[in-house]
Amino acid sequence: MNAELKQLPGADEQLEKLEIELLLEGVYRRYGYDFRRYAFPSLRRRIWHRINLERLGTISALQEKVLHDRDSFERLLSDLVIPATEMFRDPGLFLFLRERIAPILSRLPFVRVWHAGCASGEEAYSTAILFEEEGILAKSRLYATDISRSALRRARERIIPADRCGQYARNYELAGGKSDFSDYCEREHDLVLMKRRLHERIVFAEHNLVTDQSFNEFHVIFCRNVLIYFNSELRDRVHGLLFESLAKGGFLILGGKESIAFTRYADCYETWNEEYRIYRKIR
Ligand SMILES: C[S@@+](CC[C@H](N)C(=O)[O-])C[C@H]1O[C@@H](n2cnc3c(N)ncnc32)[C@H](O)[C@@H]1O
Repeated sequence: MNAELKQLPGADEQLEKLEIELLLEGVYRRYGYDFRRYAFPSLRRRIWHRINLERLGTISALQEKVLHDRDSFERLLSDLVIPATEMFRDPGLFLFLRERIAPILSRLPFVRVWHAGCASGEEAYSTAILFEEEGILAKSRLYATDISRSALRRARERIIPADRCGQYARNYELAGGKSDFSDYCEREHDLVLMKRRLHERIVFAEHNLVTDQSFNEFHVIFCRNVLIYFNSELRDRVHGLLFESLAKGGFLILGGKESIAFTRYADCYETWNEEYRIYRKIR
């Protein structure tokens, strides 16, 4: 029987929860990736998806496989991290960044930006393009981090999916692009790459928001569409890390379904744009 069908209502939910906890504990102790406080419903769905693809019947069977076989762990990891992203995702946000935030940043002697959970880098490349057009790229350093090594590899290779270039060009225009999106790309055989000069301003590095510490002080932090995968306890912890890492007067940019409200840090920020979840640190 299809493994997903076995999980219809009536199945032993407590046993399933126990098996998931043991799997996540095993993954943490064997490989150091800590998913123990990620939001349960989406973890559960993705674990069963992997069980089906591996043609296994139970969570315990998946646990046995991933603990003994690094390749199957890597496949589970790529299911759990969801590195979905795009260039100028939510173009209105980038328009706001261009019109309202870049002028403030341009008064600083040096600008540090952190893209926390950058996936394959499109968000950081978008900021680099925007900063170049606003004349602040040369005095900026963008740090783009993620736990997914395969996503970071794609980011460093500068490759963007050729079939998405049309959509990216439209997003770029809506974000107030001052040139042509193709000016920032180059072709290599059938691949489309972001221009090398953009990459030169970005440091791509592995960093785990759950287990790693702050590593610098930033004027802007993007942490978009990452916290939705965490439970409330973990979200609070990560908000602490982001708060510590942001300079006073700096901007925190979250994803469209994320908010600073109802966290311990809500009073430390002023809302600059509710729609695009842009907050300024005031204490
Ligand atoms: C949906 S993508 C968001 C990418 C980009 N920020 C955006 O909004 O387009 C979520 C990213 O968060 C990363 N991620 C998940 N857990 C993480 C953690 N504990 N530390 C750092 N990154 C994490 C995933 O690997 C994935 O690349």
